[in-house]
Amino acid sequence: MITKIDELRKWRNAVSGSVGFVPTMGGLHDGHLSLVKASNDTCDNTIVSIYVNPAQFSPNEDLSNYPRDLQTDIEKLGKYSVDALFFPDDCQMYPNGFSTSVSESQLSSKLEGKSRPTHFAGVTTIVSKLFNLVNPTHAFFGKKDAQQLRVIQKMVTDLNFDINIIPYDIVRETNGLAMSSRNKYLSSEERRRAGIINEALTKARELLNQGEQSTEEVKLFISDKILSEPLSKIDYVSIADHVTLDEVSGLVQSDVLVSVAIFFAKVRLIDNFEFMIRD
Ligand code: PAJ
Repeated sequence: MITKIDELRKWRNAVSGSVGFVPTMGGLHDGHLSLVKASNDTCDNTIVSIYVNPAQFSPNEDLSNYPRDLQTDIEKLGKYSVDALFFPDDCQMYPNGFSTSVSESQLSSKLEGKSRPTHFAGVTTIVSKLFNLVNPTHAFFGKKDAQQLRVIQKMVTDLNFDINIIPYDIVRETNGLAMSSRNKYLSSEERRRAGIINEALTKARELLNQGEQSTEEVKLFISDKILSEPLSKIDYVSIADHVTLDEVSGLVQSDVLVSVAIFFAKVRLIDNFEFMIRD
């Protein structure tokens, strides 16, 4: 395990061939591990980082409770080929006097950005630091965080990072609930009931496939279905252009990202699917 920046640089200077990078905040589950496997399948070397990045949490969020269990994470990674695990502390990443940030200004204010206005600047700052340190050839991100993926892709293009960003499909529990470190805050009964979120999205996709084009109808369907579970409260249900993330009004006539953020038994959960018009 590498905890210091100079050790990381030494490791990087010594490796040859392609380097696949999987940045995480730990609390690892099969969604994270699918990215590690994808890196193993694609790259000569794989490096994983675990760092709970304070800059991407708002003061009212769950930074202090965020699941941290390094030993279990290391055991889970043991089944894969992980050439390096970077586990820095806050002093390494944000030393006293740290005063620079990287922010993307078009996509970051939409969807999640409305509820979490400082979140993506925290993400782009830490990810650009990690990219500079790890200098990967490939980096793997889950479609679970669809907006994060797009913000990172935009940052990589705008700032000329020479890195292939590889998106990977959402991994789900057997009841369809998207895997998330935050699912640990739910009881097993709550997790079972939270399957309603994916059930609503799956049926909405069917409606779209059957030719329903009205964004209002589809969004209403999703909200009603999710609210049929009394533990849920809706933050947003969105149908947005899948590139610009601008909300689509009227009819779905181009590729869209259908996404939701739901407070479920006080835990904020997100999920989404892409609907491609040519599908
Ligand atoms: P974290 O939430 O730990 O997620 C790390 C990576 O795992 C992200 O790319 C995320 O999209 C992916 N992931 C999470 N759940 C997934 C699922 N069910 N299926 C597929 N992939 C999934 O995202 C972050 O950390 C942070 O913002 C980070 C990028 C590390 C910057 O701090």
